Amino acid sequence: MDLEEILIRAKNLNFLGKPPVQEHILHAEGFLQTIMDNTDRRQPGKVVDLGSGGGVPALILADSLKNWSFVLIERKKKRANFLLWAIKTLSVEERVEIICDEVENVARNKKYEESADFVTARSFGPPPTTAECACRLLKLRGFLVVSEPPTTTKRWENPALEETGLISTKTYKQENGTFQVLQLQKNPGNRLPRRPGVPKKRPLW
Ligand SMILES: C[S@@+](CC[C@H](N)C(=O)[O-])C[C@H]1O[C@@H](n2cnc3c(N)ncnc32)[C@H](O)[C@@H]1O
Repeated sequence: MDLEEILIRAKNLNFLGKPPVQEHILHAEGFLQTIMDNTDRRQPGKVVDLGSGGGVPALILADSLKNWSFVLIERKKKRANFLLWAIKTLSVEERVEIICDEVENVARNKKYEESADFVTARSFGPPPTTAECACRLLKLRGFLVVSEPPTTTKRWENPALEETGLISTKTYKQENGTFQVLQLQKNPGNRLPRRPGVPKKRPLW
């Protein structure tokens, strides 16, 4: 079974949004281009994906970036089980890990703290929630790549972003979507991320 067939299964299980699977793949390729533009291509990196759901963009990235390692975090058991099946089917389980937990808990686990060259997020949450959940997972100078709604306002411009250690570096408007890139320029404040659910209930801005 190939990647497209796996994503069709995700769609049939209602783990993927309405657009056809090909559109999801194209959108994930926008993530790929954005990552490539922010990395030294000679060295494989590590990607942590927040709220992986039916596997977009993470499964497509894992299939393309052959030597890279990945951690896919998804709190819903059925989705995480689907992802486990998907990585076995793609034969990438040696370098792709699935964690069924809240991102806020994983970010506080020493094994994953400051481990990622890139954190990716598609439809994970609003900017303050995404930034708070991502910041502790990133290595210093690592990048957060977030897909943006078609009509973007200045969603990331807020003084409260400072506490996460992230700064907005570039917005990529591509054929396949719009992507915001932020870079971790200093360690996040000690209290971040707060306990599960709080980044969404009481956003930083
Ligand atoms: C709207 S879906 C998007 C899934 C996928 N990234 C996509 O774009 O198709 C958001 C996913 O994030 C998961 N999620 C939301 N908040 C989470 C958290 N704090 N920790 C782990 N998973 C979370 C949800 O269970 C859901 O599967």
